[in-house]
Amino acid sequence: MPNRVRTAVFPVAGLGTRFLPATKAMPKEMLTVVDRPLIQYAVDEAREAGIEHFVFVTGRNKGVIEDHFDRQYELEHTLESRGKLDALSELQKDLPSAGQSSFTRQQEPLGLGHAVWCARELVSDQPFALLLPDMVFQARPGVLKQMMETYEQTGGNIIGVEEVDPKDVSSYGIVARGAGPDSGFKITGMVEKPKPADAPSNLFISGRYILQPEIFSLLGEQTKGAGGEIQLTDAMQMLIRTQDFTGVKYAGKGFDCGSKLGFLTANVVFALDRPDLAEAFRNEIRGLI
Ligand code: UTP
Repeated sequence: MPNRVRTAVFPVAGLGTRFLPATKAMPKEMLTVVDRPLIQYAVDEAREAGIEHFVFVTGRNKGVIEDHFDRQYELEHTLESRGKLDALSELQKDLPSAGQSSFTRQQEPLGLGHAVWCARELVSDQPFALLLPDMVFQARPGVLKQMMETYEQTGGNIIGVEEVDPKDVSSYGIVARGAGPDSGFKITGMVEKPKPADAPSNLFISGRYILQPEIFSLLGEQTKGAGGEIQLTDAMQMLIRTQDFTGVKYAGKGFDCGSKLGFLTANVVFALDRPDLAEAFRNEIRGLI
């Protein structure tokens, strides 16, 4: 049996420049899909997968994320006194329990790899899940849970992947697929943003990982990669020389809410999936198009 994965890391220190001016004073991870912030979807997905320790790598202007995962006594009291008990229980079930959350700071946004490295003392010497909160998924069970089921069989490092239109591979990290089924195949290599002609597949790395702690010493070398940032993919490319990486082509679909198009699409798809909104929203859209 591989070591259990109890800790998840959520890097939330990026600048979110693609969403300016919305992200000037508000973190991108607090943008909402219907009525829940992006970070809440990621935390819920991690909890469903059995995670017990939630590590947030925050930065400047991100204090509201910490507040979001804290209790708001005034609000709770007001909801209770007004008899809005459904809203109250909704708020309470969203929270990690006392002592389950940790926060650390990435003082400068030097890249995703650097943000992950900032979590090293909190994660310590154990495997951990990594969830990029700007990706939200329609998947049942959740993507991390599907990956966790594979991890229990294989151990090692796991990367969640999804198909992308081959002409769009140059926007993503792409894996090379070796032997094995969709639920767990050998990853033989990975490449960041390849030209379509050079891409080893059309399977993109969609922001969900289970990683072994050896990644931290590789990230600690602080080598700058594409865009002058410390890239996670560069460290994984080194780790794959000595450790197994397994790909999971999960059942479900991801939406890149760090891009305007992905964010707008996610809002439509998730609203149409909500029993309390679907019918009225469908009628509104029909009237518009
Ligand atoms: P992105 O690659 O989407 O970058 O980060 P970004 O800076 O947030 O957004 P744009 O590209 O400027 O619009 C993916 C995830 O990694 C985090 C982000 O907060 C996001 O959740 N991240 C990125 C960090 O925590 N630190 C970094 O230095 C970079």
